[in-house]
Amino acid sequence: HTHNPNGKYRVIVTKTLPGSRWIDILAAADCRVDVCQEKSVLDIETIRAAMGNRCHGAIGQLTETWGETLFTALKAAGGTAYSNYAVGYNNVDLEAATRADIPVGNTPGVLTETTAEMAVALTFAAARRLGEAERFMRAGCYAGWLPDLFLGNLLNGKTLGIIGAGRIGTAYACMMVQGHGMSVVYYDLSDNSELENFVSDFSKFRDARGLPPVTCRRAVDLEALLKAADCVSIHTVLDDSTHHLIDAHALALIKTDAILINTSRGPVIDEAALVDHCRNHPDFRVGLDVFEHEPAMAAGLDQLDNVIVVPHIASATRWTREGMAILAACNVAGLLRGDPLWGKPDI
Ligand code: DGY
Repeated sequence: HTHNPNGKYRVIVTKTLPGSRWIDILAAADCRVDVCQEKSVLDIETIRAAMGNRCHGAIGQLTETWGETLFTALKAAGGTAYSNYAVGYNNVDLEAATRADIPVGNTPGVLTETTAEMAVALTFAAARRLGEAERFMRAGCYAGWLPDLFLGNLLNGKTLGIIGAGRIGTAYACMMVQGHGMSVVYYDLSDNSELENFVSDFSKFRDARGLPPVTCRRAVDLEALLKAADCVSIHTVLDDSTHHLIDAHALALIKTDAILINTSRGPVIDEAALVDHCRNHPDFRVGLDVFEHEPAMAAGLDQLDNVIVVPHIASATRWTREGMAILAACNVAGLLRGDPLWGKPDI
């Protein structure tokens, strides 16, 4: 599908994006916009063919591999701009982009609260066994109130373990501290004094109301976090250092009745090891938005009652997905007229 066919620049967009403001932004920047209509994941050859020999910019998806081949092809087609339609950029080879002299944008900010809210939703869905309970109702199994029907975990006053205290991890931690009186231990490369100060101020507010204190500290190492937390939530980027960060060894350190949430990237967890662990520990509860080999799930995962799964929709609100489209369009339109990027990877 083509918008503004007479535009001076040509921009390809590998999927239809929500809303229409992003098209207006590109059209106002004198871009012809060619949008691929295919719903399935585009392979490298299809994207290269869509670029042809005249393409000044591209907006790509987290499901596509943007590496040497595509950046070289984009450069050869006259390209000078790329934006990922995602805040995560593990699908982008930044070094290959630099070699081709193509700046890379992403879409931070507009999905922070949205993704954190989904992490909260998954946390309580896992803690209170909502997936199981809903299946039970739909199967017509409810035969009346019972004192021990679907007993779950109370999170109020417990300890939250945040792996990766960046924008999303911090927003989620604040929601859980403020809403549910949780204390925080976080694992990150650097101190997050804003989060620590927030929790300390909030603790004073609680104290004035006669409520027990909440605390926040940086874990000395991952092991310390895994042992201390009643709920572990993953918000890190995926790179070589975080691939399978949560493997069988790490899982064995987490309390057997704790909760594990992942809204970051699937390969941070060794999914086969997770299936084994959940089989052997029925009180361990898991909420997953992302999977190691999307769209597939590890064998057996779908059979586990203590796991709740959703299809990578943590940022899926209309406001956020339209905002991501606007940001990606601003990235590309801005680059074409020589502006700095609106959103760029934190490197
Ligand atoms: C991202 O932006 O990285 C999410 O995975 C999708 O919004």
